[in-house]
Amino acid sequence: MKAIEIRNKYLNYFKKHGHKIIPSAPLIPENDPSVLFTTAGMQPLVPYLLGEKHPEGTRLTDYQKCLRTNDIDEVGDNRHLTYFEMLGNWSLGDYFKEESIAMSFEFLTKELGIPVEKLSVTCFAGDEDAPRDTVTAECWKKAGIPEDRIYYYGKDDNWWIAGEEGPCGPDTEMFYDTGKPACGPDCQPSCDCGKYVEIWNNVFMEYYKSKDGTYTKLKQHNVDTGLGLERMTMLLQGKETPFDTELFAPVMNKLQELAKADSIESRRIVAEHLRASMMVIADGGRPSNIDRGYVLRKLIRRMSRHLNKLQIDLNELESLIDLDIDILKDMYPELEKNRDTIKQVIIEEKDKFIKTLAHGEKEFEKYINKAKEENKNVIDGQTIFKLYETYGFPPEITADLAREQGFTIDNSEFDKLFKEHQEKSRLGSEQKFKGGLAEQNEKTISYHTATHLLHKALQIVLGEHATQKGSNITTERLRFDFSHPEKMTKEQLQQVEDIVNEQIKRDLPVTCEEMTLEEAKKSGAMGLFESKYGEKVKVYTIGDFSKEICGGPHVTHTGELGHFKILKEESSSSGVRRIKAILE
Ligand code: ALA
Repeated sequence: MKAIEIRNKYLNYFKKHGHKIIPSAPLIPENDPSVLFTTAGMQPLVPYLLGEKHPEGTRLTDYQKCLRTNDIDEVGDNRHLTYFEMLGNWSLGDYFKEESIAMSFEFLTKELGIPVEKLSVTCFAGDEDAPRDTVTAECWKKAGIPEDRIYYYGKDDNWWIAGEEGPCGPDTEMFYDTGKPACGPDCQPSCDCGKYVEIWNNVFMEYYKSKDGTYTKLKQHNVDTGLGLERMTMLLQGKETPFDTELFAPVMNKLQELAKADSIESRRIVAEHLRASMMVIADGGRPSNIDRGYVLRKLIRRMSRHLNKLQIDLNELESLIDLDIDILKDMYPELEKNRDTIKQVIIEEKDKFIKTLAHGEKEFEKYINKAKEENKNVIDGQTIFKLYETYGFPPEITADLAREQGFTIDNSEFDKLFKEHQEKSRLGSEQKFKGGLAEQNEKTISYHTATHLLHKALQIVLGEHATQKGSNITTERLRFDFSHPEKMTKEQLQQVEDIVNEQIKRDLPVTCEEMTLEEAKKSGAMGLFESKYGEKVKVYTIGDFSKEICGGPHVTHTGELGHFKILKEESSSSGVRRIKAILE
C-alpha cells in the first residue's frame, strides 16, 4: 500500500465514524510564536482541547505536516526524519477510551490488514498524578489483544504532553512486531533493538499541566492520536527504512546514480533534508540566521554538504528538486504550486554555502602554509574542527584537501571535539524545542554582531565621543546606550542605519583573535569596561569596519544578519542616549 492510500484510508475510515476531515495546518504555526514548527497534529487544536467549540464539531480527523528538529543530527540512520506526516483523529469531549481503542484496533487489523499477532500495546502504569490505566488495558483485551502483549510503563513512556505546559494525559501506544529475533529474554516494546516499532499513539487528554508542575482535570475528556505515515508505509511494504519506500526511493536512486563517492548516510541526509526544506519553503519559510529560518538554513547547508560528500555537482540540485516535487506533488499540491520559489530559495542558499566553502578554503590555505613552514605533515583535529565550526567548512573536505597536499589528518581529536560540539548543539536545540522562544541563541548572536556595527556607525556619524555605555540584547531586539549630548536628528539616524546595512550587504567576515589587553589597545580595538577583562582578551574584527574587545560569540559573516532597522532613539540618562533596533 502506498503512503497516499494509507492516508486516504485513514481519513475515510474516521469520516465513516462521524469525523470531519479538516485540512493540515501549515508547518509554520499561525499565531503561535511559542514554537518554531508544527510538531504534532494536536498543536493547532489546543484551544479546542481546552474547551473552545470547534466549528466542525467534536470529532475531527486530518493529516498534519510536522517538523521535529531535536534529532536533526541523527538523520542518516535508518529511521530518523525531521519532516513527517502525522495522521490523527480527535474526540473533543466526545468519545473516550473504549471507542477510541475499538476504532484503532479495527483500523489496524481490518483496514490495513495487520495480523493481531503482530500487535502489542502499552498503557500508563500510574503514579501520584494519575491512576494506573487499567481501563485502557481492559479495552484492549475486549478488542482482542491478549493480556501478555499489554504492557504498563511510567510517565516517560506512557504520558504525552507537548512541551512543559498544556493539555496532557496518559497514552496508549501500539507496537508492530517486525518479526526480528528478540534481543534477549527481556525484549519488550520499550526496548529499541528494532524488533518492536511504535505505530500509533492515543492520548487520553483529560489533564492540564501548569507551569508549576501541578496537574488539574480539564473541563472535558479528549482523545488525541498520532500515527506516523512514513513508518506505517515502511512496515506495510515490508521495507527496512522509510528511505526504501516510494516517498524517498526515486531520489535515493538518483543520488546513487549521480554519486562518485557513495555513502548511504549521505544519500539519506540529502533526500530527507531536501524534502523537509521543500515543505518548509512551500509553507512560507525562508532561510535566515534566526529561528525557523535558521533551521531551514541548516537543512539546506547540510544537504549541500552531503551532496559534496557524495561528489555530486551542486548544479544537479535543480533536477533533484524537480524529481522530488514530481514524487510528492500528489500528496502535497503546495509543492507544485511553489515549484519555482522552492528552486529559487534552495539554489540561492546553496550558492551562499559555496561562498562559505570559499572562505573556508582560504583559511585552510593559511593553515597549510603555516604547517609547511613548521615542517609538519599532520593536520591536527583542532584545526579541522575550527574550520568546521567557524567557517562551516566540512571536515571531509578538509581531509581531502589535506591529502592532496600530502598531509595526513588527526581524526581522533576531531571526532572528540565534534562529539562535544554535537552534544552541545543537541542540548541547545532541545532547549529551543522545549522552550520556544525562551532560548534563541542564534538571534541573540546576530544582535550581538549588529551591536558592534551600530557602535562603529555611531562613531562615524556622531564622532568618537559616542562610546558604549550599556547594551542589552533579547531575542526580540538590541538596545544600545551611548554617550551623546543631544537627540539625534532623523538624518543622523538614517545615516547610521544605512552604514550598518551597507556593512551587512558587504558580507564582511567576523574573525576573532586572542591577545593581551595591551596588544588589543595597540591594535586600535575599541575597548570597554576594561576592569572586567582578564589578562587575555578576545578581539573581534568585522572586515575592515570594526575592531572591538568582546567575549563573543558572533556570526561568521555580516551577510547573515538580515536588514537592520532602528526603532527608537531616546534619552537614557543625562548625556546618554538609547537606541532600540531590530534585525528583520
Ligand atoms: N500528540 C500525540 C503524539 O504526537 C498523539 O504522539
